[in-house]
Amino acid sequence: MKYYSKEDISELTSRFRAHFINSVTGYKSSNLIGTKSEEGTSNLAVFSSVTHLGSNPPLLGFVLRPTTVVRNTYDNLKKSGVFTVNHVNADIIKQAHQTSAKYDSNVSEFSETRLTEEYLNDFKAPFVKESSIKLGCVYQNEYFLEENQCIFVIANIEHIYLDESIQSEDGWLNLEEAGTVTASGLDAYAIPKILDRFSYAKPRKKAHSIK
Ligand SMILES: Cc1cc2nc3c(=O)[nH]c(=O)nc-3n(C[C@H](O)[C@H](O)[C@H](O)COP(=O)(O)O)c2cc1C
Repeated sequence: MKYYSKEDISELTSRFRAHFINSVTGYKSSNLIGTKSEEGTSNLAVFSSVTHLGSNPPLLGFVLRPTTVVRNTYDNLKKSGVFTVNHVNADIIKQAHQTSAKYDSNVSEFSETRLTEEYLNDFKAPFVKESSIKLGCVYQNEYFLEENQCIFVIANIEHIYLDESIQSEDGWLNLEEAGTVTASGLDAYAIPKILDRFSYAKPRKKAHSIK
């Protein structure tokens, strides 16, 4: 088995290290974050760090790269207080990836990628029409990560839109049927397959399949 020590990792070129370390922790979520500037320009960017923080209250968080360069998503969500999280589906991976390009703040990634912006129930931030699962989020708090100068943003999930057919009776969402993709590293997108679901695990009782 190939082995990398701390020293080996520190000697890698920055591009190789970025690809390597970005994929070594496993598959990540893949979402498009939609925002709107004070001037009225919509913004869309792909993020692979959106993560569940808790279900009561329904919270999510995501990591923002250092604000040493302009970060439209961050600027917009700080000013407006809202943003949307839209699943990347298999049929929009190329457009989703393109949103990571550094467009000027007066350019909308929606028009550049031909993804469709939609406004639902008077929520101020744009949703992605093509996404099968969309969340309307309200900014709650942020933490500066002094180890790498990133920002961890925390938000409340206040609106959820999905196709009824992908939700099972107990609330669970079948992301395979939703066509939700997962991100690997910085530039790869994959479609996962559900192998099984299991009953609540307890000591001395074997979990059984509930699929
Ligand atoms: C697959 C993928 C995942 C990404 N995940 C993140 C992320 O979690 N956090 C982040 O700050 N940038 C992430 N980026 C980079 C942003 O998409 C990129 O910086 C984008 O230009 C930000 O747009 P904005 O300035 O309009 O906010 C990712 C890029 C790709 C291709």
